[in-house]
Amino acid sequence: MKGIELKNVSYQYPLSEAFALKNIHYTFEKGKFYGIIGPNSAGKTTLCNLVRGLIPHFYEGELSGDVLIEGKDVREWDGSLLSTKIGYIFQNPFTQISGVKDTVLEEIALGLENLGIDKEEMIERVINVVKLLKIEDLIKKNPNNLSGGQRQRVAFASIIAMDNDILVIDEPTSQLDPESTADIFEIINMLKSQGKTILLVEHKVDLIAEYSDEVLVMENGHIAYSGTPSDVFSNIELIDRGVAIPQAALLSHDLQRQNKPFDFITITNEQAKQQIMKRMSCVNGSY
Ligand SMILES: Nc1ncnc2c1ncn2[C@@H]1O[C@H](COP(=O)(O)OP(=O)(O)O)[C@@H](O)[C@H]1O
Ligand SMILES: [Mg+2]
Repeated sequence: MKGIELKNVSYQYPLSEAFALKNIHYTFEKGKFYGIIGPNSAGKTTLCNLVRGLIPHFYEGELSGDVLIEGKDVREWDGSLLSTKIGYIFQNPFTQISGVKDTVLEEIALGLENLGIDKEEMIERVINVVKLLKIEDLIKKNPNNLSGGQRQRVAFASIIAMDNDILVIDEPTSQLDPESTADIFEIINMLKSQGKTILLVEHKVDLIAEYSDEVLVMENGHIAYSGTPSDVFSNIELIDRGVAIPQAALLSHDLQRQNKPFDFITITNEQAKQQIMKRMSCVNGSY
């Protein structure tokens, strides 16, 4: 089912000569997990702003083409209604913290307060996300005194508590170590299993390959490649164009170049491991 349709969309920020998005044509379907990658300034955050409706409801500038959210043009949606439908975790966690609450606990509850959720349910939801994100030790702290990584978790918690149907998540792990990054990906995967539509901008392509249903590669304001992770990361053109691809795909392309290809271009470590094991058992004659 269609969730968000973009038809021939172009966009220029106010006072900017260049187009931040050019002729974007893409449909995000309900319940799928989209991984968005690409170099700096490619337009990834602008795409998030668009899909969340901040363009045109917050950012002015020149928007052309159609942006349909559940079939209705974004310009006709009420801006605050959109914020209850689509959760947005900003690239910079410092902009996400409200600055008006004294404790992390109250900060996480703020969005729910604004929705008018009753107190009992609010407490339950907040306790659940605090446990999920393992931030029990932060709840009494002042949000303004947190480190970047802690803010990233709190921002994530605030949005998950809102239980939106669609989640737009812009580089949520940029300030996190590998272990916390893995936790976040597991949580995102769990949200997907609840039927949520997820758009995730992330540079960690190994994880994108493992979890996404579809991958979009942005370049210079447009979608240069899109398809399943296998389709996209099997394409050797990506290497020539400087797009980061998973380790397993690099290895696979390398072996192909040496005329020792795997059975297919592997994109996850698990796939590569299985291909290596298969090859080893062939060599040992036990295959
Ligand atoms: N608020 C803004 N005003 C004007 N130009 C902007 C603004 N935000 C981003 N841009 C420009 O739009 C282009 C795309 O930026 P962005 O969407 O942030 O890319 P990415 O997230 O891929 O790094 C860049 O050229 C950037 O300089
Ligand atoms: Mg960005």
